[in-house]
Amino acid sequence: MAHSWVFFLGALLCLGCSQVTLAEVGKLVCYYDAASFVREGPAQLSLPELEPALSFCNYLIYGYAGIDASNYKLKSLHPELTYNRQHYNQITALRKKYAHLRILLSVGGDRDINEFGEPDNGKYLSLLEQPEHRNNFKASVSAELSQYGFDGIDLAWQFPKLRPKKQQGAFRRAWSSFKGLFSSDTIDAKAEEHKTQFAALVRELRVELQRNGKQLSLSMLPHVDPQLFIDIPSVMPYVDFVNLGTYDFHTPQRDPKQADVVAPLHEMPERDLTHNVAHQVEYWLNSTANAQQLNIGIASYGRAWRMSRDSGLTGYPPVPDTEGAADGGKHTLIPGLLSWPEICEQLQLHLGQGKDKNNEHLRKVGDPTKRFGIYAYRSAGDNGEPGLWVGYEDPTSAAIKASYSQARRLGGVAFHDLSLDDFRGQCAGEKYPILRSIKFKL
Ligand SMILES: *[C@@H]1O[C@H](CO)[C@@H](O)[C@H](O)[C@H]1NC(C)=O
Repeated sequence: MAHSWVFFLGALLCLGCSQVTLAEVGKLVCYYDAASFVREGPAQLSLPELEPALSFCNYLIYGYAGIDASNYKLKSLHPELTYNRQHYNQITALRKKYAHLRILLSVGGDRDINEFGEPDNGKYLSLLEQPEHRNNFKASVSAELSQYGFDGIDLAWQFPKLRPKKQQGAFRRAWSSFKGLFSSDTIDAKAEEHKTQFAALVRELRVELQRNGKQLSLSMLPHVDPQLFIDIPSVMPYVDFVNLGTYDFHTPQRDPKQADVVAPLHEMPERDLTHNVAHQVEYWLNSTANAQQLNIGIASYGRAWRMSRDSGLTGYPPVPDTEGAADGGKHTLIPGLLSWPEICEQLQLHLGQGKDKNNEHLRKVGDPTKRFGIYAYRSAGDNGEPGLWVGYEDPTSAAIKASYSQARRLGGVAFHDLSLDDFRGQCAGEKYPILRSIKFKL
């Protein structure tokens, strides 16, 4: 009974589609950052090292392609790798061995940057504005997917992000939410039009892709406000699923002077009420009946701040007077980010070797409430050595989020990303421990 109603409603909503797909639950969507293939040294993830992950994933999302600003066609961000060295073909060929796997090409993801190294939002907005630009994009997506054998496209659209709010205390919070009433037009004065146009793009793409049996998904980037840019009821009937941007709520890039739990599951006292997984899920559920199309994002990496002497000794978040992004990990080399094996190694130093002379040990602080998340830190030294504060996920905390997705009967989990999990099994012997732990709960 209930099911036939769902089909009936789905068919009504989906007049433009020829086929209604009911999303399955327990999905595991795995992001694969192609840049990890060209990293130098031990952080490089080779194809044979990628393979053990694939039996756990329902979808592999290849990140990332970009948009050519001169003609609004899809373009490769690493043409040498993807075309000449045939990386696209090598990835899609994996489906021969892992027949259950669907492989989507993702466009955007904050990787499509301008000459200043900033995500290039402008072309993502101007593409939306003209039907002929949308047509160029659509045609190039179709061509690229067919030529390289992808199963679909994922839109990790580079909408402008909400600006970080700098406030502490109730008065300043109230003041900034008052200002917030007027601030949206400063992010994008034409947000309302772009919202309508993006819904049109999704609908048009769906019609085109469906002819070739290709899929379409949406990946929300953290701090892109769906209220500004996504007409949820119009978009949902045309996408296979949506990956919510429920990670990176707090990062050293956005909040250099204050370290905090990166992606709390539930609202934390005295924090922005939107900066947690549950709020984002609730927002989307308020606008769509189909929970099974929603996947929550879970990170495999930590965000790392440099602690100063003034940050105190307790590590208790929010940690004041931090000095921005900590140095990159010794393998991944990305400022303010540590992969799970890089974090795990420093935690084990603490356990195994006590007070290490190089200050490399990290003290873990767990979360018995299972509501917020975990962190690890070492405070700054007496001789001016900086401290380190890292908010992260481990197999246990990721499993708590996966269980939440199950309990709310959502579609599943979107995992960011395979290349920052422990793909060699250096930490505890098992390869991809966070991925496995999520899969176990779904
Ligand atoms: C969802 O809807 C309820 C009821 O209208 C409302 O109270 C709540 O604030 C909404 N939540 C979000 C996150 O928008």
